[in-house]
Amino acid sequence: MDIEKIISEMTLEEKAGMLSGSDFWHTKKVDRLGVPAIMVSDGPHGLRKQDMEGDHLGVNDSIKAVCFPPACATACSFDAPMMTSVGEAIGESCQHEGLAVDLGPAVNIKRSPLCGRNFEYQSEDPLLAGRMAAAEVRGLQSKHVGASVKHFAGNDQEHRRMTSDSVIDERTLREIYLRAFEIIVKESQPWTVMCSYNKLNGEQVSEDRWLLNDVLRDEWGFKGLVVSDWGAVRDRVKGVHAGLDLEMPTSGGVNDAEIVKAVKEGRLDIKDVDIAVKRVLTLIDEYEENKKPETPWNKDEQHVMAAAVEENCAVLLKNGPYIDPEMKRDGIDLHDPVSVVMGGPARERDENQPPILPIRKGMKVAFIGEFAQHPRYQGGGSSHINSFKVESALDAAKEDGLDVTYAQGYSLDDADSDGDNENSRKDDLLSEAVTAALEADIAVVFAGLPESFESEGYDRADMKMPENQLSLIMAVSAINDNTVVVLHHGSPIEMDWADDRSVKAILDMYLGGQAVGRATVDLLWGKANPSGHLAESIPYHLEDNPSYLYYGGEGDRTEYREGVFVGYRYYDKKNMPVRYPFGYGLSYSEFAITGMEIEAGGSDSALVMDDNATVKVRVKVTNKSHVAGSEVVQLYVGKPVSDVIRPVRELRAFAKIPLGPLETKTVEFALDKSAFAYWENKIHDWYVESGEYVIYAGDSSRRL
Ligand code: BGC
Repeated sequence: MDIEKIISEMTLEEKAGMLSGSDFWHTKKVDRLGVPAIMVSDGPHGLRKQDMEGDHLGVNDSIKAVCFPPACATACSFDAPMMTSVGEAIGESCQHEGLAVDLGPAVNIKRSPLCGRNFEYQSEDPLLAGRMAAAEVRGLQSKHVGASVKHFAGNDQEHRRMTSDSVIDERTLREIYLRAFEIIVKESQPWTVMCSYNKLNGEQVSEDRWLLNDVLRDEWGFKGLVVSDWGAVRDRVKGVHAGLDLEMPTSGGVNDAEIVKAVKEGRLDIKDVDIAVKRVLTLIDEYEENKKPETPWNKDEQHVMAAAVEENCAVLLKNGPYIDPEMKRDGIDLHDPVSVVMGGPARERDENQPPILPIRKGMKVAFIGEFAQHPRYQGGGSSHINSFKVESALDAAKEDGLDVTYAQGYSLDDADSDGDNENSRKDDLLSEAVTAALEADIAVVFAGLPESFESEGYDRADMKMPENQLSLIMAVSAINDNTVVVLHHGSPIEMDWADDRSVKAILDMYLGGQAVGRATVDLLWGKANPSGHLAESIPYHLEDNPSYLYYGGEGDRTEYREGVFVGYRYYDKKNMPVRYPFGYGLSYSEFAITGMEIEAGGSDSALVMDDNATVKVRVKVTNKSHVAGSEVVQLYVGKPVSDVIRPVRELRAFAKIPLGPLETKTVEFALDKSAFAYWENKIHDWYVESGEYVIYAGDSSRRL
């Protein structure tokens, strides 16, 4: 397309028309000038292409597609190359379906466990969120399909999401809430960025020239187009001047007329309109020039891939010793710490037993809990995918010919209610579950959050699991010393039961995509080795969370008063115990990270760096076991003495390293200035203090 020529031949009305959609998912075409319409679609972890009536909350059905694990899971992989492959796979399906833009990834920060949309977001840490999403964008765009990085910015709660005003101080905004977007723009130049519904420090985001133009474009070098979140436009004329190029969905012509009127009355410069039109035409052109509707989309292959992806994401939180049921049947009380039958106190003998997972072949296993049959594998709202198939753990176990029985355990429909009928039904399900648990060597309870507990559009009120599932875990673990809990949820939950000695293992699948059942069975039986690490801290209780006092705000005003102390930045500064720390995850292998070497380039001394230098950090990572696996190596940087109040340490680099049995590899990271900088309000810029920094390496924020 000769974009300049087209713009020069367009009428003002045609130009204004280019700046909003023709319907829910398409831009407008201009036949006279050969400008076609393109189609966009949600994302982020698969396609939600609506052929019929459009809506943005996933109410109407979309075409059958493949649901990959949402970001709550994929971020736990710490595997950026994997995210590029996921982006490529989604890109291919977009090409097949004629979609120019996939509306994702979503990278808002997990400020509170309560955000209803946390399942779609990556992390409490902006570096992890930014790097993982940037990798996905690269994959998607390598297939000539655009990404739409969302929701820019400060849209970290669902409560009053259309009207809230996020009040965030300058340093916090730069270090935490804008940082992931900055990383993505600089690393992978997304075709589009989606501006959010909310206000930011009093300014409507869709009208905020400072944010959409000065920061995004002038500072970071964004070259693409800004699209509104669906219905985020208030004052369209102000938005055009601010740099909001495309309004979605259609305004039914109302805002097009506003633009025309404003130009005619001299309230809006035609140059602003032309710039926005050029960006819309460039987007259309980028897709049209490279579209390949003949691209094959093999859904079965992508289903297999979705299982492999989830196997790389799931986090093994606990893996204690297996208690031999034979010994128990002989009347030995292995829970009695002073029992000396059969050679020593029970606790010591317990500890010498091999871990319960992976489950050894031939064991009798009971799957208990409705999620084993009907897994919860994605969240509700605009990202909801109409999966072409769903593989439950029960399906996968049957396919593998495993000795597995099933008891429903609880009803997902009864999660909220406790009337008399429900109570008697609950008792029946519990006694059925207890029987199944009693007859099995290992009882695997499938638990977590039912669909209605977390979704786009509203926040959770607490961090609790449903009562009927808590009762189930208690009942089963009371009867079977070898209880394993498999979790399905999009955001942290309180897990007081995790300390129970009979709950030997916890495998957290988060929301694992449509093949979650296959991944669960492969991980439980050791065909795959868990290697996910938490992309967020799991506090003991909601009240521990730093945003607890302020989250949700007063009326429309939400002050981010905890500042930069989000997630582990707070827990570490306060030296507070957490249920599971950021970056934590177990494996069937055993790893060691040793031998850090540091080398600074560009300066005279090995450990002094100047402005343009990078510091190279090398560590050795060893698999000390005979089981192949992958370790997540994390680098944190701290500045113990500083003029400003800083977190103890912050994640500055990470890599996922596959290792064969007894293998050692050297991993090298390059840290540039940004790894040492904080945002200095006085100069409105990043600033690196002189002095000493500490570089930590480890496999969790608390094992360094
Ligand atoms: C959501 C976006 C989504 C859009 C289109 C909005 O309500 O916030 O994430 O892409 O709808 O469905």
